[in-house]
Amino acid sequence: MNMNPRHFTSLLDLSSEEFRHIIHRGIELKNNRDPNYQPLKGRVLAMIFEKSSTRTRISFEAGMAHFGGSALFLSPRDTQLGRGESLRDSAKVISSMVDCIMLRTDKHETVTTFAQYSSVPVINGLTDLQHPCQLLADMQTYFEFRGDIRGKTVAWIGDGNNMCHSYLQAATLLDFTLHIASPAQYQPLPEYVSAAGKHVKFFDSGIAAAKNADLCVTDVWASMGQEEEQKQRELAFKDYQINAEIMNAANHDALFMHCLPAHRGEEVTSDVIDGPQSVIYPEAENRLHVQKALLEFLLSS
Ligand code: CP
Ligand code: NVA
Repeated sequence: MNMNPRHFTSLLDLSSEEFRHIIHRGIELKNNRDPNYQPLKGRVLAMIFEKSSTRTRISFEAGMAHFGGSALFLSPRDTQLGRGESLRDSAKVISSMVDCIMLRTDKHETVTTFAQYSSVPVINGLTDLQHPCQLLADMQTYFEFRGDIRGKTVAWIGDGNNMCHSYLQAATLLDFTLHIASPAQYQPLPEYVSAAGKHVKFFDSGIAAAKNADLCVTDVWASMGQEEEQKQRELAFKDYQINAEIMNAANHDALFMHCLPAHRGEEVTSDVIDGPQSVIYPEAENRLHVQKALLEFLLSS
């Protein structure tokens, strides 16, 4: 048992070099698929989902299967976690039986507390504050289509949410500039903004943020757990939609990304998300490849 496992609760658990290594390894695993390469034979990943998921669940489960291991889907409804068993006891017990734990949860603190008490690596599969696995996939996708993102400009137009926070951290680690246009009451948290320093610039319109952008990104206006705010958010965000006008303001070869699921006609128009600059499907598929690289990195060393 390793008492100092490497965790991935945040992108900041990686150095810039490690982040780039995982991206390149994701590309390599995608291009050279070898069913005989099974570095995680007999290893088990426990996946705790307090929120819904399509991509995260399937990519981790398929990734473990490809690598010769297996994955357990655990929902609070069916485990004692849902009946109030402490995070400390749960982390100690679960980590004594499996090789890695992935959590998707409301509170970011749940992931960091699990990591504190777990004897195996803990992976953040999305919290209210961050979605680091999605950034691994987004960055792999950018590298595949356009090469290294160092020195490039990314426009984040929409909610200053978990994805936006992870983009702020990626900007620092991979050395790109993040342009943000969000309504005043939906800005990213100040601690994430100040940590990004010179890598972030704010704009009061999507058009202004998109100028010089090599990549335009958005996300739903109401994240999981905010469904009741949908109507009020539709009003607040109506001028923050990524549409053809925004893409025309960006560089001519700019890409469009969205972590999915998407709401066409809200945060993005169909002509953009289903248009030639959109790379949403490779972006989603890359969750599989880059998380295999992450699992290999955390578990093989
Ligand atoms: N992008 C993403 O994390 O998708 P799921 O919610 O389907 O896992
Ligand atoms: N911001 C979204 C991302 C979903 C993958 C949410 O938290 O619901």
